[in-house]
Amino acid sequence: MKTKLLTSDELAEAAKLLSGSSLVGIPTETVYGLGANGLNPVAVGAIFEAKGRPQDNPLILHIPEVSWLARYCQEIPETAYRLAERFWPGPLTMILKCKERTPEELEELRSGPVCSYSHFGPRVIPDEVTAGLDTVGMRCPAHPLCRAVIQAAGVPIAAPSGNTSGKPSPTTAAHMLADMDGKIPAILDGGPCAVGVESTIVDLTCTPPRLLRPGGVTLEQLREVLGEVEVDPAVTRQMEAGEKPRAPGMKYRHYAPKAPVIVVKGDPAQAAAYIRSHVSHTRWDGVICFEEFVPLFAEEERPVLSLGPAADTAEQARRVFDALRTMDGTDVKRIWAQCPDDSGIGFAVSNRLDKAAGFQIVEV
Ligand code: TXA
Ligand code: MG
Repeated sequence: MKTKLLTSDELAEAAKLLSGSSLVGIPTETVYGLGANGLNPVAVGAIFEAKGRPQDNPLILHIPEVSWLARYCQEIPETAYRLAERFWPGPLTMILKCKERTPEELEELRSGPVCSYSHFGPRVIPDEVTAGLDTVGMRCPAHPLCRAVIQAAGVPIAAPSGNTSGKPSPTTAAHMLADMDGKIPAILDGGPCAVGVESTIVDLTCTPPRLLRPGGVTLEQLREVLGEVEVDPAVTRQMEAGEKPRAPGMKYRHYAPKAPVIVVKGDPAQAAAYIRSHVSHTRWDGVICFEEFVPLFAEEERPVLSLGPAADTAEQARRVFDALRTMDGTDVKRIWAQCPDDSGIGFAVSNRLDKAAGFQIVEV
């Protein structure tokens, strides 16, 4: 199969593919997603195959507007609407209770006409999306092309990040093509992603609400609306054998380039000095550092990539996955990475780097 890159003028073609049972790469403001009709178990099943994703890792459902929430969720707390009011459309995913079918509805479905992808489960969303959980992640993305293609398809779109499972998420159509070429019919090109790290995930089915993944909406912003918010332990440390994070995906090694990563945290100048004194003087050691410190490392032939200025965490979020992917294009055997502190969107950047490093972290 040849993977076509579609432009915004070809949106109708992307929507047609999506409303059937084909996979399409879709742009969002966070990262590119691998989209499929979220009501079609066959299409959703193909996502797992194309990504090599473990079956027990649920997908999130993308909707074009908040009014679609009640079609797929029940017992929606008032906090969900307050969050939607403030942050949707935007980089926030809410975990909510999945809508159950009544016995009458099930009966009617089972006695009605069967279409190629009918699913007769007890919930309105197929188990292929939720991995059999009774909750579902709901997101209303801000990217205009993304919202337009979902509207045109007329169905909610299940979409994980569009990378091969375990690899850094794609923030351009070219990244996505590198992972998915030949595996899916099309990618809709919406330009580079404005946020660069995946959506914030907050679980609203527990009290207090729990942050499952930091992202474009910051923990500080969530607390302004929700008050107390707990941080799931899987965000800041490696899960032990047998431990179960609330977001099943957080237990897997993730965002990892081929070479092992060592993250160095602390005062930026001190962290750069630490890397300088530990990095080998060969091209086998790559460095990802803040813009200010690039000259410290640039005199040798080793790959050095800037994460953006030390104070500009939004720029770091936009660059972090590209930096990890670019390292994969070199023959480095080890990667040293500088990392911002946990405030604002820096928390999301540091979470992605920690995970890329399998939590191999040096604090200076
Ligand atoms: O920004 C994003 O969220 C991107 C774009 C494409 O929208 N999508 C994305 O999807 O990052 P994915 O599949 O790569 O990450 C979703 C995470 C996984 O860790 C998964 O385990 C978790 O969300 N998740 C999904 N449904 C869940 C549920 N019902 N309960 C807890 N965690 C859930
Ligand atoms: Mg992902």
